[in-house]
Amino acid sequence: MTPMPVVLVGANVGGRPNFMTAAWTSVACMDPPMIAVAINKARHTEKGIKENRAFSVNVPSTRSAVGLDHCGLVSGGRSDKSAVFETYYGKLKSAPLICEFPVNIECELRHTLELGSHNLHVGEVVDVHVDEECLTDGSPDTGKIDPIVYSGGEYFQVGGLVGKAFSIGKGYRG
Ligand SMILES: Cc1cc2nc3c(=O)[nH]c(=O)nc-3n(C[C@H](O)[C@H](O)[C@H](O)COP(=O)(O)O)c2cc1C
Repeated sequence: MTPMPVVLVGANVGGRPNFMTAAWTSVACMDPPMIAVAINKARHTEKGIKENRAFSVNVPSTRSAVGLDHCGLVSGGRSDKSAVFETYYGKLKSAPLICEFPVNIECELRHTLELGSHNLHVGEVVDVHVDEECLTDGSPDTGKIDPIVYSGGEYFQVGGLVGKAFSIGKGYRG
């Protein structure tokens, strides 16, 4: 299961924004749109997700890698991370979003699966915010978003295009 995109999962804890680095995330459903995040039960963010039944998934650009990693090194239970990034709110007033990140997704908690060390939280997507300059013909453009990929304890940039999905396979001849 490597590489994986890395994001910051956000939640308000005691009314204050908190963000944690997360690589264990996935799109979980198309209709209704859902995202799953695997959060260790000891995380400060876990408290906020339960408290508000809401969370955010914030997709960084490579330029934000240092702040992103900081949020994975330090717990909001010990050190306030609310000022690491400038934040704003969308539809959900309890899921903080990050101004400098190109993509911010607001989720309402629908299901929690207690798996062991981690809880798998499944959230329904309430709204998606994408920076105008990261769109091409109205769709998110990976090259412009410049997301961070996590693999083997290191962060990487997305490399070159291999081909168009749902398309190049049409040329298969056995
Ligand atoms: C690259 C990276 C990926 C991580 N992925 C996860 C994850 O998917 N789930 C998780 O529970 N913790 C993950 N962590 C650890 C948390 O981000 C870390 O424990 C953080 O300090 C928790 O913050 P909090 O206590 O304020 O919620 C990851 C850390 C890093 C650096």
